[in-house]
Amino acid sequence: MEGVIDHHMRHLLTRIGGYDHCVTEFVRISDQLLPPVVFHRICPELTHESQTKSGTPVTLQLLGGEPDVMAENAQRAIELGAAAIDINFGCPSRFTNSKAGGAILLKEPERIYSITAAVRRAVPDEISVSAKIRLGYETTDLAMENARAVEAANASFITVHARTKVDGYHYPARWEWLGKINDALAIPLIANGDIHSVDEFLRCREMSNCEDFMLGRGAVIQPDLARQISAIQSNNAVEPMLWHEIVAVIIEMTKLMQTQPAMQDKKVLGRIKQWLAYLKRHYPEAALLFGEIRGMKQLSPVDALLRGNLGH
Ligand SMILES: Cc1cc2nc3c(=O)[nH]c(=O)nc-3n(C[C@H](O)[C@H](O)[C@H](O)COP(=O)(O)O)c2cc1C
Repeated sequence: MEGVIDHHMRHLLTRIGGYDHCVTEFVRISDQLLPPVVFHRICPELTHESQTKSGTPVTLQLLGGEPDVMAENAQRAIELGAAAIDINFGCPSRFTNSKAGGAILLKEPERIYSITAAVRRAVPDEISVSAKIRLGYETTDLAMENARAVEAANASFITVHARTKVDGYHYPARWEWLGKINDALAIPLIANGDIHSVDEFLRCREMSNCEDFMLGRGAVIQPDLARQISAIQSNNAVEPMLWHEIVAVIIEMTKLMQTQPAMQDKKVLGRIKQWLAYLKRHYPEAALLFGEIRGMKQLSPVDALLRGNLGH
């Protein structure tokens, strides 16, 4: 998730557990082959066999609209060590030029096909190439056609965020579509959208009949959600993390960010506030803490307040 789940977060969340894979923020491709430094910035795991420190494979995500340029960049990502490539056809942000990428392409299934097929051809067969779509741009009319285009292009699997672009991130996601698309495809479908709690996972599973799931915001709203879901899927039980354990992870994230060269306190503070804003949807303690720190401009008093939560 762009601006939210960077390599530090991927490290911390996959260490908590429950993930088979995780995905980078998107690498935006316009009209040229990007230099290696861009790929390394978004996916520092490239130099660690494309795995987080806890050994979870990291998929590199590309966003762009020109098949040849996407293919060239996919090839470069693989040369640099990417373990798998995902193509983003879901990002709602606006592009004004003909090199558009993301959800706008959902209006053109044939472009979804040609981009996915070009990337697939450029990447060795044994390396997974997948695509992530929404149900459409304004309507769901092309949902099935877009999903079929991904399959026809020989993608390894498809992730479906069960909303249109116009739906934005509004609740509720249309889980009923996931089962319909899943039934029509032979490739695996990964269900995504509004799985923010164990209860929502159970309801999504029931409504969609899917077996594989992707967490978006749920991964940061409840950092051990994947671990809890994974336990349910294997008929095990696991204790939910306690608030003080979550706080310890936030403190660790703060420290990791501070090790980055030229990292400003302001940015670290912004990320702490951002995470608490997500966490407060699940933890009442996070709402309290967020209220206390939201107006603060310095990192050290925020750090002290976080540490004060460690003993609770
Ligand atoms: C701030 C933000 C950034 C996101 N960045 C990406 C991204 O880079 N790549 C991607 O595939 N999806 C991205 N998404 C979409 C999520 O992965 C997910 O598909 C969507 O939020 C629906 O799932 P959720 O309800 O579990 O969050 C982003 C979502 C948000 C809110």
